[in-house]
Amino acid sequence: MLTAAVVSSNPESSSSLRACLEQSGLVQGVRELAPSGNLDPRPGEAAPDVILLDLGLDVEPYFATAASWRRRFPAVRVIACASSLQLDPVLLLQAMRSGVQEFLPKPVDAALLRDVLVRFAQEREASGFRRQDNLILVVGAKGGVGTSTVAANLGVQLAQASRKRVLLLDLARPLGHLSLMFDLQPRFGIRDAIENLDHLDGHFLHGIVMHHKSGVEVLAGTSHAEQWESISGEALGRVASVAQNSCDFVFVDGGVAGVLDCDRMLQTARAIVLVSAISVPALWALERRVVELTAQGIDPARIRVLINRWRRGDEEALQNIEKRMKHPIFARLPNDFQQASEAENLGIPLSGNHNNALVDKFRQLACQLTGVTTAPAEKRGRGGFLSFPAKR
Ligand SMILES: Nc1ncnc2c1ncn2[C@@H]1O[C@H](COP(=O)(O)OP(=O)(O)OP(=O)(O)O)[C@@H](O)[C@H]1O
Ligand SMILES: [Mg+2]
Repeated sequence: MLTAAVVSSNPESSSSLRACLEQSGLVQGVRELAPSGNLDPRPGEAAPDVILLDLGLDVEPYFATAASWRRRFPAVRVIACASSLQLDPVLLLQAMRSGVQEFLPKPVDAALLRDVLVRFAQEREASGFRRQDNLILVVGAKGGVGTSTVAANLGVQLAQASRKRVLLLDLARPLGHLSLMFDLQPRFGIRDAIENLDHLDGHFLHGIVMHHKSGVEVLAGTSHAEQWESISGEALGRVASVAQNSCDFVFVDGGVAGVLDCDRMLQTARAIVLVSAISVPALWALERRVVELTAQGIDPARIRVLINRWRRGDEEALQNIEKRMKHPIFARLPNDFQQASEAENLGIPLSGNHNNALVDKFRQLACQLTGVTTAPAEKRGRGGFLSFPAKR
């Protein structure tokens, strides 16, 4: 599925283009934007795959938007819609220079738009774009800050909100605890993937992951710390690549630092979520990690700082750390000891209805990080805390 944004100054035309996109069956999640102000994605928002420019009389702001998005997100595809009166060689040249790849005459024909989207989707698959866009790395500033809780619950919430194929890779060192969080007994795990790299493909992977009733799949981590001695960053990158090709989204519990050796994962991750608690050692480590990642050339827009176990009284400390890091805090997860520890001890990830602040926040973040549109609250699972809908 593609995500899209319509840029238009005419609300009626904008919603009709939105309807055309949604009717295509190829687009999930359409944003409507006005061609003024800063249209760059806000922290936490993914760039859409496709931008539809509903050209007005003054084309400048539309083309400026297209150029700016294409500069920041080269994979974004841009379609411009113009009336036949507007179409002249000067306009076409201007459009091409700002990165417009397709022109559609107004009023837009839904079938024609669908043809263009089909082509975009095919080109995206062929170029391996998907491989670069569906991996979320979750890394702790230090141990015990909630990295596994965050990775597990982002995965669960995305699987429930989207019905997409979501895989959790447990790469935490020295030992992986994700299977305990799901009360699963692994027969296979990351080590089996690494030992079979030569014939590791989507089919093989499917055979070694565990399926949880929440909808997520889990590839168990290591149960013996010394197994890590023979696992290279390159091998991990290959496992991640197969996972990315065979699933819609892959969430990695990267523990404290292990996955940061894996250049491929770092370079291709859609987001690197840095989890921290609000303690002096955790915030100290967080600051260093942001600096290290930025020094490695990671686009700061992909580094998402997530503060776990947040309380209202923590705001002053957080504002200070934001200033020191020169990097925004992407999100705060409320402190809910009772719920988190109950879920952990029962081996059941959080679930529940929309009145649950922690679950709601996980769902909202999962959707923001992946660009998936959240289901309306009333359509969500009716079950209360710690319940899951029937298996898919
Ligand atoms: N938002 C939260 N509110 C309250 N408690 C939380 C929250 N998130 C996580 N916890 C609790 O914090 C503890 C540590 O969580 P978790 O195991 O996810 O951390 P971790 O960073 O993965 O730890 P490790 O470094 O040992 O792998 C657990 O007891 C968990 O229940
Ligand atoms: Mg952990």
